[in-house]
Amino acid sequence: MKCIDLIAGARPNFMKIAPIIDALKAAQQSGSSLSYRLIHTGQHYDRAMSGGFFEQLGIPDPDINLEVGSGTQAEQTAAIMVRYEQVLLERPSDLCLVVGDVTSTMACAVVARKMGVPVAHVEGGIRSGDWTMPEEINRVVTDSLTNWFFTTSETANANLRSSGVSSDRIFFVGNTMIDTLMKQMPKLQPPLFWNEVGLQAGHYFVVTLHRPANVDGEEQLLRLLQAIAAGSEGLPVIFPVHPRTAKNLRQLNGQIPGMHYVDPQSYLEFNYLVKHARAVITDSGGITEETTVMGVPCLTLRDNTERPETVTIGTNELIGTDPAKLAPALARLMAGQWKQGSIPEKWDGRTAERIVAIVEQLLLK
Ligand code: UD1
Repeated sequence: MKCIDLIAGARPNFMKIAPIIDALKAAQQSGSSLSYRLIHTGQHYDRAMSGGFFEQLGIPDPDINLEVGSGTQAEQTAAIMVRYEQVLLERPSDLCLVVGDVTSTMACAVVARKMGVPVAHVEGGIRSGDWTMPEEINRVVTDSLTNWFFTTSETANANLRSSGVSSDRIFFVGNTMIDTLMKQMPKLQPPLFWNEVGLQAGHYFVVTLHRPANVDGEEQLLRLLQAIAAGSEGLPVIFPVHPRTAKNLRQLNGQIPGMHYVDPQSYLEFNYLVKHARAVITDSGGITEETTVMGVPCLTLRDNTERPETVTIGTNELIGTDPAKLAPALARLMAGQWKQGSIPEKWDGRTAERIVAIVEQLLLK
């Protein structure tokens, strides 16, 4: 029997870990001797950012919750490290499987590797080249400690090879976020405010913003929102507000016409909104993968992306953080001149199965 620690800590982790749990359960039913324990670090802890996702995605209750809660990144990193080390001291595991690029991903990878537990990184190898993003630092640190990489793209494979990782440690498997999206697609449901706002498919925008570059300065946030309102030609704009952004929105205090601020949405409601939107305007990385698969135009308010296939193959375009760039892009969109896009290789809903089959070989061979 080999035990895998599955680490989940923040909202974008939950949809990546859910299909891996499903695939592990399926393997166990077919006689596999892999076992796992689900460890929630507690980086995200409230219902809107965490609990609702567990329910909707059918993720079992965590076996262990490190309950670190809010704090600066150093405080969160430190608390996760101290508490995960204690877990491993009490009961070691055979593999630490981390996903994505959040603080929890990096913190657990450091602890595991120092304690002699091998690390597998799902979504390894992606790089934005932007060292102002905490996620980029998390990616580089995590990948420098990772034994086995499960990658979403050939670009990620090339990044890893050029940093000296040998090919036998890189497994190009696809995208577990898309496993979740494909599984949940038939269950997507409109949010409660759909009728209240009078939303119609194809006739509204979805906005999400939470990167410090866009939301930490009031002036920048205000200018972006004004540019979005101006370019959306009177269509409603639905803005599920991340807690980080909420703090700064309150300071702005100015109502922008057509802008509907709503709480962070749970998975089924959020992706229903995305699927039926005219376009999504975002500074998230993961959402650009979901819009690519759903064929929904996506305008990314960043200067770079660690997911270039969403631009070269998918429906995403990098607009940058300058609010003045939004007007021409939105004009092209409204004139029906957005690209169609297609789905990247291996984003087929079966990535987690591949990961579990490989982990089985690595641990049980
Ligand atoms: C984190 C991730 C980011 C991810 C984002 C998605 C890192 C470095 N960043 O950024 O990659 O895209 O989550 O949501 O890991 N808060 C709540 N309730 C919660 C969680 C957080 O109110 O359940 C508050 C915190 O107290 C904090 C703010 O939201 O004030 C930001 O949360 P935090 O986890 O620190 O970082 P994010 O900006 O969310």
